[in-house]
Amino acid sequence: MSAGNPKKLNEQQIQRTNERQRDFFSQLIHVFDPPLPEGVPARLQEIVASARIGKGSTVLDVGTGTGILIPLIQAYKPEIIYACDLSETMLAHLKKQYPYAATLPGDVRDLQLPNQSIDVLFLNACYPNIADKPGSFGNISRMMKQGGRMVISHPMGKSFIDLLKEKSPFPLDNFPEKFETRTLFEPYGFEIEAFTDKPDLYILVLVATKQGRSRAYP
Ligand SMILES: C[S@@+](CC[C@H](N)C(=O)[O-])C[C@H]1O[C@@H](n2cnc3c(N)ncnc32)[C@H](O)[C@@H]1O
Repeated sequence: MSAGNPKKLNEQQIQRTNERQRDFFSQLIHVFDPPLPEGVPARLQEIVASARIGKGSTVLDVGTGTGILIPLIQAYKPEIIYACDLSETMLAHLKKQYPYAATLPGDVRDLQLPNQSIDVLFLNACYPNIADKPGSFGNISRMMKQGGRMVISHPMGKSFIDLLKEKSPFPLDNFPEKFETRTLFEPYGFEIEAFTDKPDLYILVLVATKQGRSRAYP
């Protein structure tokens, strides 16, 4: 199934999926700790570089987990780094290592940051996990500044998700294929800036051109 035709979940299924993820990831904290697989640190640097973070900017890492991206983001000297995740256990672990990040527990669709307050938003190894995509991308669109960048990525490539699907206790969507990126993200006011789809690296960079009006995710 392509990402353009994800199975739509009702509210009860969204809540159940999020609860399962919270429990699952809370028990997996140490899987995300370094040392990372060979090549991954360099590819994570490439992912963060693709956002072209400006000094003094505000960055939001959605589904941050244990904060694998946080020190790489910090290297660009942003003013604020927000780290959002469903799992408070993950965020507590993150906070011990990176006390300068502001942690935001909960679903990204419910974040209450001000309108047009985010310069750069990362979704690293997290797009397939977002249970309520219309609600989440509607809220992300509201929070992004015009000209801000959203980076959807995976440092092991998009087909890594096929391996995870075999064991996952909750549903996972595919990463968007190039042909469907416009259909998926234009309704939220995003344009495609760059698309990398290699066997071991997936990066989709989107630019917020205007505040999205539609909450309709195909
Ligand atoms: C595979 S982990 C990736 C963690 C981290 N980004 C990394 O690259 O190591 C996915 C994370 O996304 C979080 N997550 C899933 N859905 C979310 C949502 N709707 N809002 C916020 N976080 C979410 C999960 O709790 C989990 O920690």
